Amino acid sequence: MIRTALQTVTPEPEAPEAAARDEHIAPAPRVSIQAFCETVESAAAVQSAGEDRRLGKAHVKIQMGGITAAIEAYRGSPTPNVIMLETDGRGDGILTGLDALAEFCDAGTRVVVIGRTNDVTLYRELVRRGVSDYMISPVGTIDVVRSICGLFSAPDAKPVGRVVAVVGAKGGVGASTIAHNIAWAMASDLALDSVVTDLDLAFGTAGLDYNQDPPQGIADAVFSPDRIDTAFVDRLLSKCTDHLSLLAAPATLERAYDFGPEAFDGIFDALRATMPCIVLDVPHQWNGWTQRTLVNADDILIVAEPDLANLRNAKNMFDYLRSARVNDHRPSYCLNQVGMPKRPEIKPADFAKALEDQPVAIIPFDPQTFGAAANNGQMIAEMSSSNRNAEIFLQLAQLLTGRSEVKKAKGGLLTPLLAKLMKK
Ligand SMILES: Nc1ncnc2c1ncn2[C@@H]1O[C@H](COP(=O)(O)OP(=O)(O)OP(=O)(O)O)[C@@H](O)[C@H]1O
Ligand SMILES: [Mg+2]
Repeated sequence: MIRTALQTVTPEPEAPEAAARDEHIAPAPRVSIQAFCETVESAAAVQSAGEDRRLGKAHVKIQMGGITAAIEAYRGSPTPNVIMLETDGRGDGILTGLDALAEFCDAGTRVVVIGRTNDVTLYRELVRRGVSDYMISPVGTIDVVRSICGLFSAPDAKPVGRVVAVVGAKGGVGASTIAHNIAWAMASDLALDSVVTDLDLAFGTAGLDYNQDPPQGIADAVFSPDRIDTAFVDRLLSKCTDHLSLLAAPATLERAYDFGPEAFDGIFDALRATMPCIVLDVPHQWNGWTQRTLVNADDILIVAEPDLANLRNAKNMFDYLRSARVNDHRPSYCLNQVGMPKRPEIKPADFAKALEDQPVAIIPFDPQTFGAAANNGQMIAEMSSSNRNAEIFLQLAQLLTGRSEVKKAKGGLLTPLLAKLMKK
């Protein structure tokens, strides 16, 4: 039927489950979500939630099998940012299942449960176990959207992003190469959305290493501090792979790159709001902003070659950073380009003694592989996934994202509760 202009058009009734007009649901960041459903209805709700604009940046995966399937899945692989679990069991079944899952849950993973029972005691037990939200089935699309977005937008919600700063103890030691390869492993092997931020504005090589020549990048942000917000910084990212983005350095010399200590703060905050993993390629310099960037990072990886100057510098950086971050875990360090023919080297054991810590990795000098990767604009794992160094970069990615390879009882889910109890 053709409607004439005179006909009153009755609006389509709104879907019963649509969000109320005055409800504002903030979009979720680029998180990975895995749902383990028991019923096709819930699976369908999660599926269509994944298509909602507010979850446009998130990656949603669904499988059937509930908690049992989740335990099976995470026994040997890292957990995503959010796990949704549907259970049709009664209280005890859910709790036993969650306790089993807690053993395999990585720190930072949030758990949402969809259950059938509306029971305060059960709800309290779930909260005690660190479950972030409990929804009573049947759940609609918007319930799922609201729940997931709420995890990241509540006033007390932790920002999603974890900042890992990688810096060399000397120039040219391979810090950038290692930063780029670790970010690659985070994105491709751990399926975590990651961004490499190239802070070496004049000479940075991230664009070359990922074979990208984006027209814009970090300079556009740092020279326009008034415009910085999440959407603006988002537009400056260039996409390298499904999960990996780059905030590239201009690597041009028309401008001088002098910055105040806080120049990059707004950019890091904007990235933290949407990106789970932020890898900072920090140039080997010691000034207000590099110092501040390192002190404020969630994790620090210092890259050193096995010689005396590197040892001295690494020791000084360690001492400085430890005293500036007394309540954080220590920076990590790795040795790179180890075993260069004919070069006298300082042994890893001597580094460990001076720094009072073992290196998290010892990467061999391998000019053929690293040289070819650099000249081809490829990562080591892209050239050969079986290369021993690709495995090392994956282990470093796991370590720096808190996703350890050997799954042992870490009590990820239980941590908040335990921490509270210990404080009492
Ligand atoms: N393990 C290794 N074996 C052989 N060559 C390596 C290794 N690691 C890095 N390289 C090479 O060393 C050179 C310097 O690497 P890179 O640019 O990553 O160092 P950097 O510490 O970031 O330097 P800069 O101080 O200039 O920022 C590159 O050509 C890289 O391919
Ligand atoms: Mg570099």
